[in-house]
Amino acid sequence: MEKHWWHTATIYQIYPKSFMDSNGDGVGDLQGIISKLDYLEKLGITAIWLSPVYQSPMDDNGYDISDYEAIADIFGDMSDMEELIEQAHQRGIKIIMDLVVNHTSDEHAWFVEAKNNPHSEKRDFYIWRNEPNELVSTFSGSAWEFDEQSQQYYLHLFSKKQPDLNWENEVLRHKIYEMINFWVDKGIGGFRMDVIDLLGKLPDQLIKENGPKLHDYLKEMHQYTLAGKDLLTVGETWGATPEIAKRYSNPDEKELSMVFQFEHIGLQHKENRPKWEYIKELDVPALKMIFNKWQTELKLGEGWNSLFWNNHDLPRVLSIWGNTGEYREKSAKALAILLHLMRGTPYIYQGEEIGMTNYPFESLSELDDIESLNYAKEALDLGQSEAVIMDNIRMIGRDNARTPMQWNTEKNAGFSTSDETWLPVNPNFTLINVEEAVSNPNSIFYTYQKLVNLRKEKSWLIDADFELLETEDKVFAYRRYTDEESYLVVVNLSDEEQSFSIDVDYIEIIISNTDEAVIINNHCLAPWDAFCVKIR
Ligand code: NOJ
Repeated sequence: MEKHWWHTATIYQIYPKSFMDSNGDGVGDLQGIISKLDYLEKLGITAIWLSPVYQSPMDDNGYDISDYEAIADIFGDMSDMEELIEQAHQRGIKIIMDLVVNHTSDEHAWFVEAKNNPHSEKRDFYIWRNEPNELVSTFSGSAWEFDEQSQQYYLHLFSKKQPDLNWENEVLRHKIYEMINFWVDKGIGGFRMDVIDLLGKLPDQLIKENGPKLHDYLKEMHQYTLAGKDLLTVGETWGATPEIAKRYSNPDEKELSMVFQFEHIGLQHKENRPKWEYIKELDVPALKMIFNKWQTELKLGEGWNSLFWNNHDLPRVLSIWGNTGEYREKSAKALAILLHLMRGTPYIYQGEEIGMTNYPFESLSELDDIESLNYAKEALDLGQSEAVIMDNIRMIGRDNARTPMQWNTEKNAGFSTSDETWLPVNPNFTLINVEEAVSNPNSIFYTYQKLVNLRKEKSWLIDADFELLETEDKVFAYRRYTDEESYLVVVNLSDEEQSFSIDVDYIEIIISNTDEAVIINNHCLAPWDAFCVKIR
C-alpha cells in the first residue's frame, strides 16, 4: 500500500469563531489562530481542519458561503489567511479547508442572479420546482422555500439561507473545480468535504444521500483538482456503511482519502427518532461491535478510517459518554487511548485535549445555533415545555462544542478581552484551561501529545490488524498485531470497577492512565483504567 502523510497524521479541528480572538470583538479570528500555532506545534498535530472562514452572512456560522474566494471580515482577510498557511507550514502543520459545496448562501452572487433573473445561466445552478414535496430540512420544516418573485420553490436541505446547488449542471461543477484549485494553489493540505454524500440528490424521488451519480461527480472532481497531489480529503458521510466507505476511500477509486462515518455517534440517539431524543448511557457492547466492524472491514489498502469522538456538531464526549466529575481527567484519557490506537486518522476537536465539557445552558437566550433555535421554536409550538427542550439542548445542542476555547484563568478564559463574547465562556474555565493543562505533567494534554507522537513513530498503528477481545460488557479490549509484534489495548468504559483477566505476558507499557500494578495483577480494573502494552 502506498503510504501518505495523512496515515501518520493527527488532525486538529478549529472552529474559528471560538478559538482565539485577537482584536477584542468577542469573536475568534485568523490572527488569533496564528498566535496559538506554537501551542498546536507543542501538541504535535500535523494538520488543522479549519471550519469555514469564507465570506458569509453567518446564518449557519460560515457553512453558508457567499464568496468562496474571500475571507469573512470577522476573521480577517486573504493576507491573514496566507499568513496562517505560511506560519503553520513553518511549524510543519498543514491547513485543511472546509469545502461546502452542497449549498451556498442565498447571498452568493450565483443565487442572487438566479433569483433575480430566471433566464440567467445561474438559475440552473440551484434546484427550482413549481410544487414542493415532503422533503424536510435538517434544521426543521419544509426543505422548500417559495420565491415570490419567480413564483417557484427552491430546495434547501439546511436553512432557507442555504439553497442547494444543482450538481447535475456541468458548468456549475466546473466552477467549483476552479474554486478548489484556487485553494490548492494557495498551498493548503486538503479539504474536509461538508455533507458530501448529498451531492447526488434526486429531490423528486426523495433521495438525499448516496444518489446514483454521487461517485461519478467525486471522480470527476478528483480528476480536475486532486489528481497527482498528495492532499488529504475527508468526506462527511452520515449514511456510510463500510461498503460505501470503500467506494470513497479505496485509492483505486480515485475519490477521497477517507470519510467520517457516524455509526458510533448514532448510539447517542434513539433509532429513527429526531436527534433530540438522546441516549446518555453508552451501550458499550454496541460500541464494540461498531468499531470492530469498521476496523476489520475497511482492510488496509482497501479503504481508510477516520477516528473521532467530537466535532462542532456533536456534544462534548466527556459530557455524554465520559465523566465530568471525579473521573474527568481519567475518562478523557481513557477515551483518547481507546480511539487513537485504532487504525485510521485521528481527529481532535479544539478543547478535547484539555477535557472541555458541555455548557450549562439555562435559557434559549444564551444560544446561537440555528438548529437548536429552530428546534426550540417548533417544539414550543407543539406545546413541549421549555424545561424539556433545554434539557435536550444542554446535552445534544451544537453550541456545547462551540463555546470559546479556555486558555487560562483570566477574563473570558483568555479567549477575548471583549466584555461580551459571541457565546458565553464555560464557567468551569478556572479549572479547565490550557495553561493549567500544559503546566501539569499528568494532564490530559500530555496523554494526547503522547498519542499524537506515537502515531508518527510507530508503523504498527497503520499496518497492524485488529482483533476485538472477549471481556466484561463495560471493558473494551482489543489486540493489534502484525507478523512480528502484538499490542494489547484495554479500557474500562465505566465509573465502576470491572473484573478482567487476559493472558498477558507483557514486554513494555506503551501508554497508560493507571498504575503498572493494574497491568501486573491482571484481574481488576478501576473506573476508567486504560492502557496499551506490547505483549509476547
Ligand atoms: C455539516 C456541518 O458540519 C454543519 O455544521 C452544517 O450545519 C451542515 N453541514 C450544513 O452545512
